[in-house]
Amino acid sequence: MAGGEEKRPRSYRYVAPNKSLWVVREAASRDLGDLVALDDIAKPVPWGKDAIAGFIGRVPGVFVLCPSNGAGASLGAPVGFVIARWLGDECEIMSIGVHPLYRRQGLGRMLMDAVRRTALAHGKSSWILEVREHNMAALSLYESCGFVKVGQRPGYYLDTGEDAILMRGTLADSD
Ligand SMILES: CC(C)(COP(=O)(O)OP(=O)(O)OC[C@H]1O[C@@H](n2cnc3c(N)ncnc32)[C@H](O)[C@@H]1OP(=O)(O)O)[C@@H](O)C(=O)NCCC(=O)NCCS
Repeated sequence: MAGGEEKRPRSYRYVAPNKSLWVVREAASRDLGDLVALDDIAKPVPWGKDAIAGFIGRVPGVFVLCPSNGAGASLGAPVGFVIARWLGDECEIMSIGVHPLYRRQGLGRMLMDAVRRTALAHGKSSWILEVREHNMAALSLYESCGFVKVGQRPGYYLDTGEDAILMRGTLADSD
């Protein structure tokens, strides 16, 4: 990849099964207010402003998912986001959320795909995450993205006493 190209914000276009058009793009500082509001609505335990702000501008960092005009431009406020980081040779999914009104339309899978493609472009070959044992929606999403369980941390989440399920997947290049 050419040096100049790498500096441009990454964005990926998607068409949902219901034919709606979406763009997943790197978040900018101007997205922080929308991200905090979305994090509050979408997540049972929100991260909050400072934690999210710390990942904006990093790579892979924060991606937001917005309705699109089909030419890759955002048409409105984000309805989903994902936060990821490099951890050694791997990519770690740290947080993902889709607005409750927009779930089960394939948007979570688009967010995961954007991270997958970014990680592949940076030479990563696997991705990892941890998830609450009772978070069936997230567990199913991750399994549908090829993650498999590789470990379990008993009582890891102090608020509910839930175990953390550790998962790992191979970043296959299917494009
Ligand atoms: C997890 C989450 C991001 C999924 O987003 P989504 O946009 O609804 O996911 P998708 O529509 O792309 O679903 C992809 C696949 O995941 C699985 N899945 C998603 N939600 C599911 C649910 N509620 N029950 C069972 N399987 C589910 C299905 O296999 C689905 O494919 P299908 O619809 O073709 O059957 C969303 O439920 C969410 O924001 N949850 C709250 C935040 C959270 O828990 N984040 C994870 C921890 S950080």
